[in-house]
Amino acid sequence: MRKPVRGLTAIALVGALALAGCGNDRGGDTPSEPAGGDDATSEATDDAGEATDDADGGDATCVSSDAVVGVALPQKTSENWVLAEQLFNDGLTEAGFQPIVQFGNSGVTEQQNQIDAMVEQGAEVIVVGAIDGSQLGTQLEAAKATGATILAYDRLVKNTDAVDAYIAFDNFQVGVLQGTALLEGLEARQGEAGPPWNVELIAGSSDDANSIPFFEGAMSILTPKIEDGTLVVVSGQTTFEQAATQGWKAENAQKRMDTILSGSYEDTDLHGVLSPNDTLARAALTAVESAGKPVPVITGQDSEVESVKLIVDGVQYSTIYKDTRELVAQTINSIKELAACNEIPINDTESYDNGVKIVPSYLLTPIIVTQDNAAEVYANDPTLGPLTQ
Ligand code: GAL
Repeated sequence: MRKPVRGLTAIALVGALALAGCGNDRGGDTPSEPAGGDDATSEATDDAGEATDDADGGDATCVSSDAVVGVALPQKTSENWVLAEQLFNDGLTEAGFQPIVQFGNSGVTEQQNQIDAMVEQGAEVIVVGAIDGSQLGTQLEAAKATGATILAYDRLVKNTDAVDAYIAFDNFQVGVLQGTALLEGLEARQGEAGPPWNVELIAGSSDDANSIPFFEGAMSILTPKIEDGTLVVVSGQTTFEQAATQGWKAENAQKRMDTILSGSYEDTDLHGVLSPNDTLARAALTAVESAGKPVPVITGQDSEVESVKLIVDGVQYSTIYKDTRELVAQTINSIKELAACNEIPINDTESYDNGVKIVPSYLLTPIIVTQDNAAEVYANDPTLGPLTQ
């Protein structure tokens, strides 16, 4: 259910920006139409058009030009996180800040302790890529009490008022793109086998706040096709809970697919797989190969090197390009705005409900990639571009 946006009755955006398709909240509860829009620095106004201080109606924050900035990253479950570490260290240092960038490799408790330590070291801004977005409220509220600004990066932080903004690619739209690609891939590559086509569903880790918008975005496209018989989930595992992959671990996805293939596909073929990211897509392909089955149409996300090679070779059907350079740059840009005593750039104030409030967000646009457009999409990517030549 949509919650009224607290403290504001309208947002006037500086520059040409149309708030695209904002629907209900989207903290993983009630998905809505993809939101997001073009870049702009938002100026929050009330009915009378008087500028308020910032998107929450609070006082604009001024951060020191050499502020300590804590960046709490989750675990290296995909290449984008490894790249983010390097980009944050380089970009924050170059901007004159003092970065403390750490991974919570051993889990939530370590990440909680790291955030506490960042506060003790005087962090004025804390950027959080949460392992489990629902378990950081205590630490972030303590950080907020010191005057720190809290930015949720890539993954929404849930059940706390302490988060000031969410900066991410629109992850519900990621799911919509994945579901759409699966259908298009089946039409393009499995036209002789169906419809109906046999498909299986894989979801991300249940502790990752992104996993539900990924899954629900895809199912907003696929559910009508399951209901009309175009798609058949032979295993019968159609819920998020059944499809979730704990810790985003490849071995967990591979083991689940091994069981499904041996239990439900003795006498039939698997035509398509919804995979939420590239790591799990490759795990599913390994299971299919072990079962001696033909390669299905399979989706992914993150444009990982090994998967881009598989897409160029016509094996994996699709991935998603969420340019980590853009996401990190937008986050650092927000901190620069705070250092100039400006408000955080926001382009969406309706989509992401974190269970306590609608978190003002800056949403970037994800891009679907297939064999047909990989060269064009990656043309300016120094790592991926050469793979498509
Ligand atoms: C998500 C992120 C995805 C992927 C996944 C697994 O939160 O948005 O792009 O990286 O984690 O690591």
